[in-house]
Amino acid sequence: FEVSWDAAAAEKGGWSSFMAKEVAEQPEAVANTIRGRIRGDRVVIPELDGLDDLFSGINRVIITACGTAAYSAMVGKYAIEQWARVPVEVELAHEFRYRDPVIGAETLVVSISQSGETMDTLMAVKYARERGARTLSVCNTQGATIPRESDAVVYTHAGPEVAVASTKAFSAQITALLLLGLHMGRVRGVLASAASEVAELQSLPEKVAHVLAEENEHVSQLAGWMADTRSVLFLGRHVGYPIALEGALKLKEISYIHAEGFAAGELKHGPIALIEPGQPVFVIVPSPRHSALIHSKVVSNIQEIRARGARVIVVAEEGDAAVLPYADEVIRIPLASPLFESVLAVVPLQIFAMALATARGLDVDQPRNLAKSVTVE
Ligand code: G6P
Repeated sequence: FEVSWDAAAAEKGGWSSFMAKEVAEQPEAVANTIRGRIRGDRVVIPELDGLDDLFSGINRVIITACGTAAYSAMVGKYAIEQWARVPVEVELAHEFRYRDPVIGAETLVVSISQSGETMDTLMAVKYARERGARTLSVCNTQGATIPRESDAVVYTHAGPEVAVASTKAFSAQITALLLLGLHMGRVRGVLASAASEVAELQSLPEKVAHVLAEENEHVSQLAGWMADTRSVLFLGRHVGYPIALEGALKLKEISYIHAEGFAAGELKHGPIALIEPGQPVFVIVPSPRHSALIHSKVVSNIQEIRARGARVIVVAEEGDAAVLPYADEVIRIPLASPLFESVLAVVPLQIFAMALATARGLDVDQPRNLAKSVTVE
């Protein structure tokens, strides 16, 4: 008898693509990134032992990255400012180096890179060091060039990511940045207790698993119906904004459909002109319990686009009934406070992009024109 054995299929462990496998591995990626970094009700990142000065001796943080990593950086900004009370800017690595940024010994430059080899990001780190800034990298690849060039490193433990479009590395990056924000807040003496945040971190892997289990089929079906769509818009506020940008990027990368993410509040300043009957719009809705004000603003944004005929697909917390009258489709995520919600809200957008690309007969792992790691400037 003959055994037919395909090395590539074996590596995918039964999944149809590396991307499908990596999306499904997110509960583990998040759990592995948290592991060993919680002590009681505090976050203590052991790799940063003895490096308190990186956080106490600074007056500013700049987070620099490219692509998906830059969207995790935007979530990181909210987390670090909230918990460590230090101003944070986010800048694309390839822009940072080509102006004359005001940086020095009191600036911490945090770089984020899955591969640790992205040339634009590496050059930004080198540039920051030459100007006397302190550097910390968030990286998924042990011993890569960017962590070697940095004063400190916090590894994401997402495991190897093969598909070009980043998924599990993104949720692990956000997780690492949440941990970093809590670690910094403690070291800077501005965060007395992190008990509720620690509890949220610990329940995050299970909540990600819940989204995968509950929404995979629904979202994939939705994508199948929308295979001929020519354009999809994504709206969000607060951390929903970077998640909207990431949802749009996933769709561009693997399904080659025009997609754009907007800050929901920016809608009336221009993008609303794009809304015509039938235009699909994903809206990331924040928790009504945790952020009633932001929630009500997003609901009124939904009303504005709905009134102009948009086909509204909301990603909303379980039990949020306020969105129901205006939504064509509702994708549910478990209850979480806003910063943590970002990790949950991105999952259906990843599934949507993957299913839509598959419905269009495209190779989700190897999209045209893109490389997993861009080692040229
Ligand atoms: C490339 C990939 C993207 C990735 C970006 C940054 O453009 O196609 O998926 O987000 O590089 O990669 P890094 O390894 O630095 O996170």
